[in-house]
Amino acid sequence: MNYFFFALLCLSAVLAAENLKHECVHDDVSASFRYDVQELNFDDANRRMQNVAPRNMKITYDMTYFNSLNLTDPINVQFKNKCEQALKIALQYFTDLITIVPKPPGSMKWNLGPTCGLVNITDADRNNERDSDLHLYVSYSDEIAKPYLAYAGWCKFLKVLGPTHGTVNFNLGKLRSYDFNNTIVFNELIQIVTHEITHVLGFSGNDVQYWVDSTTKKPHVNPISVQLIRGFNSTVLQTPNVQAYARQYYGCPSLAGMLLENQGTAGSAGSHWETTVIKNEYMNAAVSNTQGFFSKFTTSLLKDTGFYASINSTMEEQVFYGKDAGCSFINGTCDQLKREFCKAGAQQCDYYHFSSGICNPSSFSDAGCDNIQAFSNSRCYDPSGNYQNNPTFLEKLGVGFGSNSRCFMSSLSDISGTVKEQGLCYNYTCNNANQVIIQVGNNTVTCSQNNQIVTSPKMNGSLKCPEKLDQFCNYKKVCPNFCSSNGYCVNGICKCIAGFKGVDCSKTI
Ligand SMILES: *[C@@H]1O[C@H](CO)[C@@H](O)[C@H](O)[C@H]1NC(C)=O
Ligand SMILES: *[C@@H]1O[C@H](CO)[C@@H](O)[C@H](O)[C@H]1NC(C)=O
Ligand SMILES: *[C@@H]1O[C@H](CO)[C@@H](O)[C@H](O)[C@H]1NC(C)=O
Ligand SMILES: *[C@@H]1O[C@H](CO)[C@@H](O)[C@H](O)[C@H]1NC(C)=O
Ligand SMILES: *[C@@H]1O[C@H](CO)[C@@H](O)[C@H](O)[C@H]1NC(C)=O
Ligand SMILES: *[C@@H]1O[C@H](CO)[C@@H](O)[C@H](O)[C@H]1NC(C)=O
Ligand SMILES: *[C@@H]1O[C@H](CO)[C@@H](O)[C@H](O)[C@H]1NC(C)=O
Ligand SMILES: *[C@@H]1O[C@H](CO)[C@@H](O)[C@H](O)[C@H]1NC(C)=O
Ligand SMILES: *[C@@H]1O[C@H](CO)[C@@H](O)[C@H](O)[C@H]1NC(C)=O
Ligand SMILES: [Zn+2]
Repeated sequence: MNYFFFALLCLSAVLAAENLKHECVHDDVSASFRYDVQELNFDDANRRMQNVAPRNMKITYDMTYFNSLNLTDPINVQFKNKCEQALKIALQYFTDLITIVPKPPGSMKWNLGPTCGLVNITDADRNNERDSDLHLYVSYSDEIAKPYLAYAGWCKFLKVLGPTHGTVNFNLGKLRSYDFNNTIVFNELIQIVTHEITHVLGFSGNDVQYWVDSTTKKPHVNPISVQLIRGFNSTVLQTPNVQAYARQYYGCPSLAGMLLENQGTAGSAGSHWETTVIKNEYMNAAVSNTQGFFSKFTTSLLKDTGFYASINSTMEEQVFYGKDAGCSFINGTCDQLKREFCKAGAQQCDYYHFSSGICNPSSFSDAGCDNIQAFSNSRCYDPSGNYQNNPTFLEKLGVGFGSNSRCFMSSLSDISGTVKEQGLCYNYTCNNANQVIIQVGNNTVTCSQNNQIVTSPKMNGSLKCPEKLDQFCNYKKVCPNFCSSNGYCVNGICKCIAGFKGVDCSKTI
């Protein structure tokens, strides 16, 4: 019995840097581009808007810059292919998300300086119109010492209508060390590219001044304000859709708007959602270390740019962090008894139960607002990378991994031993009554009440049920096989890019 106890303790979770650590440098980069905002007559724009039908947004790209890579080196070939694949998937995402009125003839011809980002513009691009709503020049750099994996910004922007040309740059220096054959790692790259393109589309502190009201096409009045929040002068985005959603979401009718990141370098502050009040969102300043969510906060922002005819609301993913928590959640001290926050050093499951983790300050959270940082080798959806996936844990503790697995605080073990309470991964299902049925080896335990402590007659120890079963049962599902790196995942369903099909996009057409 003692042997069993000690054997389990030898294995443990680590905060290894195995997953992608992306800190966005967006503002630093966009400030250094020599981009231009071109004037447009408001009346013309209005007249046009009434007569031209919107279409699904068409985003084109040019990767010829990659021809300067040494393509006899297979690592470079793979790097190029993976960047292109991530780009294709992200572009399909925006095509499905956004409809836009095509810009007036001539808009898509390049009429500015010699480069966009690092890319030289060809004469063909100056002379020819392009059937596109946004054209991206894709480049790479090799900066191993920098914190970013990719960055993006626009180069040409038409007033009232939005960006026409932009650039996306991949940091080969950092990216060459990741195994993008692993679909989970590759999905993080898709998330990063999607994040960066969202900046190009208008999510940028510098660009709020150019956003327009969707009906009047006039700039918003006071789109942002600065408020003292937990000791920081914080930028609050208060455009109509964002403001309305933030008030409803937090249950705080007096809320001025949604907080933008107040920490970090210029590259992070002001152009991302504030990490203290929303976590795991695609547009936080650092990539989620579990699963990211493209939420209604970000779709509301895209609506408020006024550049797009419609946003596909079926692609919004439900978030719960701070939901209905009231005004004090935004402006008060962080309550360590709330599940969003925690006591430094405590080991428990992360907010969405994706992984076990440890309570730490995070670089973008306000002081006193520590939260659970997932261990990189404890993510329940990642069987091959999970330290619990070994014979002892499987046989004695009955853990399970995969797309139906989540982290639960548990000390359940078979009758030959005992273990301390810890975040363990189990497969589960929810029934129609929002009961959570958890598979523990060959046994099941059922959570019928919030915070219930459940035991199993055939096992030692107990398991603590989730705090809000109804919310838990609506948490985002991960996709089958992570869409085989051939599609994007929304709410547990794969959408394959051209050439692929099947529930997990693993079949070619
Ligand atoms: C290109 O890469 C190959 C394979 O790594 C290497 O043998 C070759 O010397 C490289 N060529 C140049 C011009 O660097
Ligand atoms: C809306 O999004 C869903 C899910 O991605 C997609 O299947 C559907 O085609 C989209 N609708 C439009 C009009 O693009
Ligand atoms: C871009 O143009 C500059 C100046 O003409 C040249 O030095 C550079 O090599 C070009 N870059 C690429 C990637 O072609
Ligand atoms: C990834 O897969 C490709 C194609 O199957 C293969 O050539 C490459 O060696 C693999 N890379 C790694 C790091 O396993
Ligand atoms: C937050 O509280 C501070 C100090 O009480 C106050 O000055 C500020 O206006 C409040 N901000 C919001 C958004 O309520
Ligand atoms: C917030 O901004 C005001 C006005 O610019 C300034 O007086 C105050 O010192 C700032 N407070 C903090 C904490 O930075
Ligand atoms: C958990 O579910 C996966 C499939 O998602 C399955 O392969 C595995 O055997 C299950 N484990 C347990 C303990 O039920
Ligand atoms: C485990 O459970 C069995 C049966 O319920 C019990 O006899 C045994 O004492 C328990 N073991 C420990 C270490 O608590
Ligand atoms: C589950 O049942 C199988 C077959 O009855 C048995 O071999 C296995 O050890 C059991 N697993 C656990 C965790 O009890
Ligand atoms: Zn960013």
